[in-house]
Formats: sequence, C-alpha cells, structure tokens
Amino acid sequence: MGGDPLSVVGGMIGAMTTPAAVIVDAAAYARAVEDAASAAAAYYAGGSSPMDDDAYDRLARGIAAWEAEHPDEVLPDSPTGKVAGGAAEGDVPHTVPMLSLDNVFSPEEFTAWTASLARRIGREAARFAVGPKLDGLAVAARYHEGRLTRLITRGDGTAGEDVSHAIGTVQGLPETLAEPVTVEVRGEILMTTAQFEHANEVRVRHGGQPFANPRNAAAGTLRAKERAYTVPMTFFGYGLLALPGTGTALAERLDESPYSELMSTAAGLGVHTSAATAVPDVVVETPEQVVRRVQEIAALRAGLPFGIDGIVIKADLAADRRAAGSGSRAPRWAVAYKLPAVEKITRLLAVEWNVGRTGIVAPRGVLEPVVIEGSTITYATLHNPADITRRGLRLGDHVMVHRAGDVIPRIEAPVAHLRTGEEQPIVFPEACPRCGSDIDTSEERWRCAQGRNCHLVASLAYAAGRDQLDIEGLGTTRVVQLVEAGLVGDLADLFLLRREQLLALERMGETSTDNLLAALARAKEQPLSRVLCALGVRGTGRSMSRRIARYFATMDGIRAADADAMQRVDGIGAEKAPSVVAEIAELAPLIDKLAAAGVNMTEPGATPPPPADADGEDGTPAEAPGDGGPLAGMKVVVTGAMTGRLESLSRNEMNELVERAGGRSSSSVSKNTTLVVAGEGAGSKRAKAEQLGVRLATPEEFAALVADLLG
Ligand code: IVH
Repeated sequence: MGGDPLSVVGGMIGAMTTPAAVIVDAAAYARAVEDAASAAAAYYAGGSSPMDDDAYDRLARGIAAWEAEHPDEVLPDSPTGKVAGGAAEGDVPHTVPMLSLDNVFSPEEFTAWTASLARRIGREAARFAVGPKLDGLAVAARYHEGRLTRLITRGDGTAGEDVSHAIGTVQGLPETLAEPVTVEVRGEILMTTAQFEHANEVRVRHGGQPFANPRNAAAGTLRAKERAYTVPMTFFGYGLLALPGTGTALAERLDESPYSELMSTAAGLGVHTSAATAVPDVVVETPEQVVRRVQEIAALRAGLPFGIDGIVIKADLAADRRAAGSGSRAPRWAVAYKLPAVEKITRLLAVEWNVGRTGIVAPRGVLEPVVIEGSTITYATLHNPADITRRGLRLGDHVMVHRAGDVIPRIEAPVAHLRTGEEQPIVFPEACPRCGSDIDTSEERWRCAQGRNCHLVASLAYAAGRDQLDIEGLGTTRVVQLVEAGLVGDLADLFLLRREQLLALERMGETSTDNLLAALARAKEQPLSRVLCALGVRGTGRSMSRRIARYFATMDGIRAADADAMQRVDGIGAEKAPSVVAEIAELAPLIDKLAAAGVNMTEPGATPPPPADADGEDGTPAEAPGDGGPLAGMKVVVTGAMTGRLESLSRNEMNELVERAGGRSSSSVSKNTTLVVAGEGAGSKRAKAEQLGVRLATPEEFAALVADLLG
C-alpha cells in the first residue's frame, strides 16, 4: 500500500485539530447544551448517536469556550462539568468514583498539560505510562476472594448499572483469578472487529438492525438482558483497586504501586490487558518520548484488531498520582490524547454498479463528501447485494462510514433514527451494467454471465501488468486499440498477433511493433506463477498464485488437482479450494490456447508433489518445494524502499525472491514473523517488529543472505 506511514502519522497528529463550534449567544448556548446532552445520553445508553465523535468534540469545545466567557450562565445539563454527560444512571454505588479523562489534541496541548501537571505536583512527573485508549465502555469488575461476583457499568460515575448477566460472555475477564484476592478490576469492554462482524451477523439473523459500530454493539450487548443469543466481547483491564474486603497489606500495596506494576499484577491474576496486544502500555520518562510513543501507536492503529480512539497517558508513580489528585470529572494525573475519528456519519447518495476484470458486478456507495483522517471520502465499498440487504440500507440514508489507514472506506450501517421517510430502496441491476448480459446471482458476489470476457480490457491490462506477464508497451490504451480492432478476444490472442496486423494499427510504427512483439516473446517465458496470476483466478492474487505454482510445479499438476489436493497449498482452506478448482476448470479452453501459443506452463525450481497415498488417505501436506533454501521455514515481511543490489526489485519481485529462497512472504508483521527486511522509510512495520522483538535486516544484509539466488 502506498505512502510512507510515518509522514502520514506526522500529518495526522500535527494537523489534527477539532475547531470549536462557534456559539454566539445564550440561546445558541442553550441549544448546544441540549444537543450535547441528548447525544451524550444516546452515546452512554449504547444507542446510535446522531453525532459522530468529531462533531461532539467540536460542540463540547464550543460550549466550554462560551462558559469560560459566561461563568455565571452555565447550565446544569452542560457536558463540561459532569461525569459522562447525561449518562444512564444505575443503582450500584462505586466505591471510588469512575472518572472520565480530559482530552488533548496536539503535541502542543500535550506539552501544556505536562506543564500544568508539573505545577500541581511541584516537580516534573518522573515517569509516564502510555497505552491505547480503548473505544468501548468502562466497567468495574468486583472479585470476592478471587471469584467474579459483580460487573457494573460506569453509569454517572458515582453509581452504575449491574450488568453481571454478561459475566461469561466477556473474554479476558476471568471468572476466577489466579489468586483468591478481593479486588476491583476496572477496564473497558469492547468488541474486536471480528466480534463486531459476528455480532451483527447474529443480530440480523434474529431480525434486528445491525449496530453502527463496535462501540454501539458492545454497549447494546452489555445492557441487553433477555436476548435469545449471546455474542462474545473482550475486556481490557486498566485499573486495579482495593475493595472494603481487601486485606490491609494488599490494599496498601495497590495504593503504593506504580500504574505499570498494577497492570502486571492484573495480568498475573489472569486479566487481559494491553500487554497482550501490539500496542502495550509502555513506561517512558520524558514528554518527548510520550509524543514519540503516541505516534507509534497512531501508526499501528489501522492494523489493530480492535478500535482505539486515542492514547492514554498516565503519571506512573503512585506518589505523582497522589500529588496531582483528581477533579470532579477527571483525574489530573492522566490525559487522553485523542486521535482523529475514523468514523463519520454522512449520507448515501447513490449506489453504482461496476464490473471488475473477473466479471464481478460490485456495488459502490456514492457519499456526500466527508473528511476522515484528512482525506475526503466520496465512495465506500458495499461488498455485495446480500450485504446491502443485510444492512438494510436505503438511498438517502445517513450512514456510518469507517476508514482507517489505507483501508478502503466501508459503510457500516444506516443510522436508523435519522430517517426522514424520504429514503428510497436501492435498486439492484437486472442485467450486467457493462454488457447487458444476464447476471449470475447464485453466489453472494454477483457476476456477469460473460465472466472475464465482459471486461476484457481490464482483464488484459491486468495480465500485462508488471507483476503478472510484465508486457512492456501494453498499457490500457493499447489494449483498447487491440480489442476494438478485433485483433484480440482473449489473453491467448495476444500471443498470436502478427507483425503486419500490428503495423496496420494507428500509432504503431516499426519500432513500437517490434518492441511489443519482443515483449510478448519474453512474456511467454514467464514462470507459471505469473501466468497463473495473469489468468486472474478469483480469490487468488500474486502471492497465492506463487504458492499454487510452487506447490504443483506444472499447469498440468494444477489442472489435475481436486479440492483435497488444492487444500494442501499453504493458505488455501476448505472454503477456497473448491472455488479455485472450479475456476481453473472454467479457464481450461483459455489455458489450452495459451499453451498452444507457446506460453510457459512450468515453475522453474519447483518439483511436483509426491502422488497422494495409494490407499486414498489424505496425506499430511507435502513439504513445499523450495524448502532447504537460505530462508527455509522463515516468514519474511519486506517494507520500505530497497537499496543497493535490490534497488530495482518491485515489492512483488522481492516476495518472489523470498519464496524462491524457501521462505514465505507476508505483508503484515506478527509474532509469527521471523524476519523483517526494513528499507528506507520503513515505518509502522519496523516499529511493530521492534516491539515484538522480531529480527530486522537491512536490504544489504538481506541481499547477503540470498546472494546465491541474486545471480
Ligand atoms: S484510565 C480515572 N485507560 O476512556 C479514569 N481509561 O474518555 C482513568 N478508557 O472513562 C481511566 N482506554 O472508559 C483509562 N487505557 C485506558 C483507557 C481508558 C479507554 C476510557 C475509560 C475512561 C474514558 C475517558
């Protein structure tokens, strides 16, 4: 994916400001307070708020600014002086109030906060703990002698609602601690992205409306008492305190512990904390180090399996926390550094239907332009028609749009209570919007009956691309020309082109013609992996094509494979195998034609797998050919710009190199990664590798490792 992640981060943090709403008079102030209070009430009740986070922050800042000028006219409902705005109140009192956090939005505001903290405690804070601000709901979990007895929401901060019925559905919140202690664990309940998708699927199956985002889903699920089904959620602990029954020694220890130590105690008791994630809380000493850590976490945000809306910074030492104290709404020893919202509400204006190179007819939502993380979003993916139906979307709906990092923006759900009645149903096409043929609607993803021939130009231009057959001089314009002249009707026709046919075309002189013919001749020699990729088998991209080609070694081997055999390829599961086999079968005439035209159908360096057991049993997966190279058994991620001997290699070519050397290439860093090759400008992937302790190599070191293959 494009862009240097660090520069993106710099932009996100440096440029991020939420301008305050401008309030001109007392009437506007009263309206603003009313709007904020009802939005806050909806938010804390877990309903879908008519305001997104940015809009709320803007309003709250405007309210605060007006109140600063008119301190005598502050309304009781104002969100500024209260814990959690107009939260739904419960009847279980908290032993110690559950406070909120003050926000900062820029390095400058953060520096100002550290200065005010230093003033309060009479010295610089010695250490800061810096960790993710989890986007869920605060809860207090009471443990009596090691057993989880009660789960309480934050409520208004002084008393919350008993939601103990949810015990058992929250991962990371054990029903029994590792030691029989009496303590209160505080933390956030949320849904991971996967849990959210699952929850919406189940909810819709039970006739409900999908939740707009994971936060609403967690709130709604936590408070729902009598549902016919349960869906899992996840807990992250960020507080550990004594209860009336806690022994004196432990109570004193908890009181005196640095925050970082409390968290390791909690983790030791079996509670899930940020330590188990790619963005663990870390302890640093200076405000500069805090800002650096904030940037690191921001860079990792898009890749996290759960939502964060900022970073929480806390004075680590108990003595500093005590000296700083707390206000009625928020502690003075902690602050939230808010990150730009990744979700905004906007309107769905239209739905377009586009046909891709494999003939898939895909819907795309046209939005009223909305700025998310500094980019204007006008389109968002809608996946497929079934998805539109599942989400109950209508034209004109207000929708929650989600976009994080480089990920394609997606529409989560309609904001149902903002409907005016004017919304119109979304009309599904009855014929292919490109060629007018029938549409095959037998699967979730609709497809033109002409398949990849429907959008021949797109599929040929893709096949000619640098990472596939790499046919220089065959860009989209030339492909259009060839198709319109009737010279090519499929991929194989390219290899049957004759010199005089090309010369007869406009803008095709002798040189261009000879160059194109030479490029086509070279393309015939490409390895099988690239030929396979050029065919555009649905569900297989570059790396999957390489794995299939290396596993089977020949096109005949691939064609002979049934679903069981296909499943032996690393990364192909029971679901994907049959569709890959079916696609290959569908492509048989084209493959025959390509082979007859002289296109290579073998993978250099790969050997065919041994035949399956004679008794027909599924053998264990055969060793992937290529094992035994310098990277045998290694999982390698390449990031940043390559230099030196590797400078001319594209990312795809680097991945090919990794695989030829016996390794497995991957695009994301995890604890299973063995090696990260970090070139110039490597950003978040390098940061993650450092964090997880994954081995790093410069392009030069990597080149030395695979020197034998570089020739
Ligand atoms: S510490 C005294 N740490 O953010 C309050 N809070 O906007 C100390 N939150 O009420 C809270 N992640 O619900 C803390 N790592 C984290 C957090 C976190 C999310 C929530 C919490 C708090 C709200 C304030």
